[in-house]
Amino acid sequence: MITQSKKISAIQPYFFLNLQNKIDNLNRNGKEVIRLDIGSPDLPPPASVIDAFQSNIQKNDVHGYTSTKGPDVFRRAVASYYQKRFNVTLNPESEITPLLGSKEGIVNLHQIFIDPGDEILVPNPGYPSYEFAAMYAGGIPIPYDLDPQNGFQINLNRIMALITPRTKMLWINFPNNPTGSNIDLDTLQALVNLAIKHQFLIINDAPYTDVYFDTFMPPSILSVPNAREVAVEINSLSKTYHMAGWRIGMMCGHEDVIKSIRIIKSKVDNSTALPIFHAATTALNMDRTWLFERNQLMKNRRDIIVEYLKGISPYFAIPQAGYYLWAKIPSVFNSDFEFCEKALTQAGVSLTPGSIYGSNGKHFIRICICQPEETINIAVKRLKAWYS
Ligand SMILES: Cc1ncc(COP(=O)(O)O)c(C=O)c1O
Repeated sequence: MITQSKKISAIQPYFFLNLQNKIDNLNRNGKEVIRLDIGSPDLPPPASVIDAFQSNIQKNDVHGYTSTKGPDVFRRAVASYYQKRFNVTLNPESEITPLLGSKEGIVNLHQIFIDPGDEILVPNPGYPSYEFAAMYAGGIPIPYDLDPQNGFQINLNRIMALITPRTKMLWINFPNNPTGSNIDLDTLQALVNLAIKHQFLIINDAPYTDVYFDTFMPPSILSVPNAREVAVEINSLSKTYHMAGWRIGMMCGHEDVIKSIRIIKSKVDNSTALPIFHAATTALNMDRTWLFERNQLMKNRRDIIVEYLKGISPYFAIPQAGYYLWAKIPSVFNSDFEFCEKALTQAGVSLTPGSIYGSNGKHFIRICICQPEETINIAVKRLKAWYS
């Protein structure tokens, strides 16, 4: 019999895989479901991005292996995006490298830097891949609480209390999935100071920095002086430019980390196809009008859910950025799983139970706004008819 390794057997299957099976079953039985669960964009990328892909895929010389560090034009486009968006100057040769999306960077960083027994600080609630990647590399994920009393923001004291000589990495994720919370530059500076003092790597996983709604513009950790001594930022085109299926992202910052990730990627994946790089380059070089219009559209969607939550949730925050609303469930429900199961089977609306993001997600749900306004309105009607 062929058995999985112990480390893999200890890992829970991805929630959305099982959910997909459940929804397929409901569909087979004639029940249609509106999905407000997974954060997969419902809209296409900008038309110029599709055009860039189409014109490039026709060429004869774009089908071979691409260099691990990606073409110069792509890295220069990332540098110019960081300059325009964050006023951060990056060296395209040594401080930027492409990824097959953020998730790939999350997993590979652990493979590079974690030895068995090393400790990795991960947010609770938090994106589950940090914990998975830590365990996959033989490390020990140490959850730190995002502070519910403080809108699920970072609480520095809680982080400081968890630092040990084995702390190797600290994961932060702002704008945050699942809570929608954010971070300011002073807190980023304090975290960078901690990382310098205790010599660990700090990573801001930031795929939602350009999906924001009001006046607040989410910052980059690389804006903090000295951040590059201890930090990298992972970003991607998945959410910002609706290119989740294209698998293209970037890691920026600490030069030695960039060097290491290129070495491991040269052994593992050989990077992505040139037409995808050219499409991504077009997206990053575009003026920001498309983003402003898209963000307005996402804000309208957010506001429909805000109105719904006002009627049922004892606590929720109005997110300033990202794809999600994070809300406490009414106390008549025993658990977030019960709420989501009933919403799915009785209202035909699929939501995500907060517990899959860690123990602090218990009694919370995450609602994603990746559906057209009309569909979100129908979902809200169904949810209200089921429970209000
Ligand atoms: C916080 C966070 N990081 C990373 C990812 C993965 O994004 P990508 O498509 O860039 O791999 C997601 C996707 O939902 C996410 O929410």
